[in-house]
Amino acid sequence: MVRKQTVRDIDLDGKTVLLRADFNVTFVPGRTEISDDSRIRATLPTIEYLLNQNASIVLCSHLGRPKGKVTPQLRMHPVSARLAEVLGRRILQGSEPTGTDIRSTIDSMAGGEIVILENLRFSPGEERNDMAFAQELASLADVYVNDAFGAAHRAHASTEGVTHFLPSVAGLLMERELEMLGTVLESPRHPLVFIVGGAKVSDKLQIVERFIGRASTLLVGGGMAATFLKSKGLEVGDSLVEDDFVERAREILNSSEKNETTVLLPLDVIVSSDFAADAPSHLVNVSCIESGWRIMDIGPRTAELYAKALSDAETVVWNGTMGVSEWPRFSGGTKRLAEALAAQQQAITVIGGGSTADAVASLGFADKMTHVSTGGGASLEFLEGKELPGVAGLMDAE
Ligand code: 3PG
Repeated sequence: MVRKQTVRDIDLDGKTVLLRADFNVTFVPGRTEISDDSRIRATLPTIEYLLNQNASIVLCSHLGRPKGKVTPQLRMHPVSARLAEVLGRRILQGSEPTGTDIRSTIDSMAGGEIVILENLRFSPGEERNDMAFAQELASLADVYVNDAFGAAHRAHASTEGVTHFLPSVAGLLMERELEMLGTVLESPRHPLVFIVGGAKVSDKLQIVERFIGRASTLLVGGGMAATFLKSKGLEVGDSLVEDDFVERAREILNSSEKNETTVLLPLDVIVSSDFAADAPSHLVNVSCIESGWRIMDIGPRTAELYAKALSDAETVVWNGTMGVSEWPRFSGGTKRLAEALAAQQQAITVIGGGSTADAVASLGFADKMTHVSTGGGASLEFLEGKELPGVAGLMDAE
C-alpha cells in the first residue's frame, strides 16, 4: 500500500485549509437531533491540529442523499451546532456549498477561524465529480485535507476532483483508518480471525475471498449464512437465499480447505415466522429449519463456538452483524461476540463501519475495540483490496 502525506508533512501556518470531513451523521427519527455524533468527534483531532498550526478551516461534508437539490431537512446547521458545542468554538455557517458569500466570509476570516459550507450534495457537480465545481471548491483554500474516510470510496468533486487543484494530504482520522485497516490486510499478527455477517452474501463475497488464505478462521453469521448452509444441502426455510450465489458459496467452502482457512457455519439459529421485531421466534438446529421460518440470529451454541474460536486470536476483523441486531430479540449472537472481543485484551480488534460499528456502539462495547472504522462502504471496499479514489489523489509520502 502506498503511504500518503498527512497534515504533519506540510506547512500550514497561516494557510486556509479545505477540510473534507464525513459528517454524514444519523438523526433521531423525525427530528433534527443528532443520534450519533461519533463521526463529528472522530474529526476533532484533525481540526484541533489545524487550529494549533494557525490555519483557518473551510470545513465541508455531504449529509444524506439530496441528489443535487437543496433539501431543507438536510442542511448542515445541526452538524455545525454540535461541532461548535464539542469544540467549544464559534463556527461560521455558509448558506451554499460555494459562491460569493462564502468567498467573502473566508476572506474576512483570521487564522484559527472555522466556516462550514452548506451540504456539498446540494450541488449537482459534487456527485458527478464535475471539475468546474471541484475547482470552485479548491479556489476557497490553499491546501486540501481529506479526513472523510467514510466517503473515500466515492469519486466525487470534494473527495477526488479537488485533489487535481490543490496540494492534498490526509487528516489524522484518515491516517489512522488507513493504518489500522492496512495493517490487518498487510501485516496482521496471527492467528487472524475474520467474522463476516450481514444480510446478503452477494455484498460480502469479495471480502470473504480476500480473507480466505489470510485468516486462519472465518466465522459466518447473519442472513448470509443461509446461502452457505444451502450450499451444503441444508433446508433453510424462508430465509433469504441468493440462489445465484449458492454455487459460489460452495466453491468458497471448497477453496477454504485448500487454503487452510477453517470456515465455521452456524450450528443453531433463532428463526422467526416474520421479519418483524416482535414476530414469534424459537431456537432450532440448522438441520431442522422448517418452511415458513427464517434465520434472524445465530443461536447460543454457535455463539459459544465462535467465542471459543476467538480466544487465541491475535487479530480479529469483523464486518457484518450475526443477526438483526437492531431488534433486541435477535441481537444475542452479535452481543456475545462483541463481549468475547471486548475480553480479548491481547488481540487487535478492528470493526468495519456501518451497521457493525452501530451494533458494537449501541451494545456498549465500542471503547473496548482497538479500532472502530467510521466508514461502512469505504472500509468494505478497502478490505476487499480496492483503491479508494479519495485516497488515491492524496500526495504520496516520500
Ligand atoms: C456513509 O455514510 O457510508 C458515507 O458517508 C457515504 O455515504 P453515501 O453512501 O451516501 O455516499
